[in-house]
Amino acid sequence: MQRTKVKDLLTGAEVGKEVVLKGWVRTKRGNKFVNFIAVNDGSTIHNLQVVADAAKFSDEALKDVTTGAAVAITGELVASQGKGQAFEVVANTIEVLGKADPETYPLQKKAHSLEFLREIAHLRFRTNTFGAVFRVRNTLAFAVHKFFNEKGFVYMHTPIITASDAEGAGEMFHVTNFNLDKLPRTEDGKINYEEDFFGKATNLTVSGQLEGELAAMAFSDIYTFGPTFRAENSNTARHLAEFWMIEPEMAFHDLKMNADLAEEFIKYIIRYALEHNREDIEFLGQRLAEEDKAKPQNERQEMTLLEKLEFVVGSNFERVTYTEAIEILLASPAYKKKKFQYDVSWGIDLQSEHERYLVEKHFKKPVIVTDYPKDIKAFYMRLNDDGKTVAAMDILAPGIGEIVGGSQREERIDILVERMKSVGIEEEELWWYLDTRRFGGCPHAGFGLGFERMVQFVTGMGNIRDVIPFPRTPKNAEF
Ligand code: 4AD
Ligand code: MG
Repeated sequence: MQRTKVKDLLTGAEVGKEVVLKGWVRTKRGNKFVNFIAVNDGSTIHNLQVVADAAKFSDEALKDVTTGAAVAITGELVASQGKGQAFEVVANTIEVLGKADPETYPLQKKAHSLEFLREIAHLRFRTNTFGAVFRVRNTLAFAVHKFFNEKGFVYMHTPIITASDAEGAGEMFHVTNFNLDKLPRTEDGKINYEEDFFGKATNLTVSGQLEGELAAMAFSDIYTFGPTFRAENSNTARHLAEFWMIEPEMAFHDLKMNADLAEEFIKYIIRYALEHNREDIEFLGQRLAEEDKAKPQNERQEMTLLEKLEFVVGSNFERVTYTEAIEILLASPAYKKKKFQYDVSWGIDLQSEHERYLVEKHFKKPVIVTDYPKDIKAFYMRLNDDGKTVAAMDILAPGIGEIVGGSQREERIDILVERMKSVGIEEEELWWYLDTRRFGGCPHAGFGLGFERMVQFVTGMGNIRDVIPFPRTPKNAEF
């Protein structure tokens, strides 16, 4: 007989029938007459209650049915007598497929801290919280593909290993098969990369954008969705060394069209998760509300998670230029009362405290900041007519800060080469990138959405390490 997933059993479609259920025991409780076994198989936040009559199952028969054990159960699906669930299974047979010694199994019934669960990330999938988080993550990933597919975008797989530093920030992990104890050197003592696997220095990609641009010059609209790697030593709740990024690139798009698409995209995937994972999001919302109770009044959230998501889906993102954002910050009570740790003046890179002020205190909704000073942005962004700013956009989200970074690209080859020179990128190094400006270049634009930051936003999880299965961060690559 085929097993039915818990999610499907709980619809009651098979009520009155003999069913097969497989999963992991969450709890077992009982008395002299009957045992109740809660089983979860990851298909839903809810467990299925299995009723095991003591007349049929001795204590001995159930001794290995303990929290964490894998079980296969046959029985009849019936409408539940008790409250808390609509349906339950009255067991005929119970087989323990894999035991979990209660003495050593780390996930016991009590609530565990997120920090502790991070240390047992190989088991944390089996908790309510991480079950919900990773089901939502799955739904969001699917929604990303669905959104772009419906719009006729071509999904492009850009390389993981590359010789270029797209962002020019130099935060790259090297890729080599050199014996690090015996590095070949050139006569002047430098490492001789000609002898390395690829015949040149290579690294893990920090972004698929440059290659994405090449494809957009043929397919018009493309997107990438893959892992990216940054060796930035930022030990924050928003940074990973390995994270996933979605990068659409559109020919014949300017900055405004780019911003419009990003806003539509973000709302679409949130809406999709609200429709398909409502129970998970409700559960995560309750979790947050509990967490909030322990905080002082002024640090508590104004909206529940569901309210926040519905609000974002239903409202227009605010749009301001960088110059306007600086004026708002300079005029703010926070600035006047010297509440910011970092100073504010035209030309600074906005710090997270500034971004959060704009989003959470001033506008109280997602904000698209455009037209940043050229000196704090990447070389490929299109120079504005003022000669000082570039056609950049960052989208800032409440509680997260920057969630999207994007721009209209510099399509004018002379200006692009000039900018590359000024930041020290050789023309020869990016000859292929420059070729798209030589042969049939056109105005185009794109952006990158940090997938984990998006999952954080939708699940309300405070730490980015809790929305990727196995986080890679400074000094940590366990599992
Ligand atoms: O702003 P970034 O650096 O932009 C780019 O990489 C462009 N090439 C995108 C493009 O135009 N195609 O990164 C984009 C987004 C950020 O807004 C942030 O959400 C996320 O990627 N991000 C990170 N997420 C987790 N950990 C990190 N270390 C991240 N660095 C960036
Ligand atoms: Mg950025």
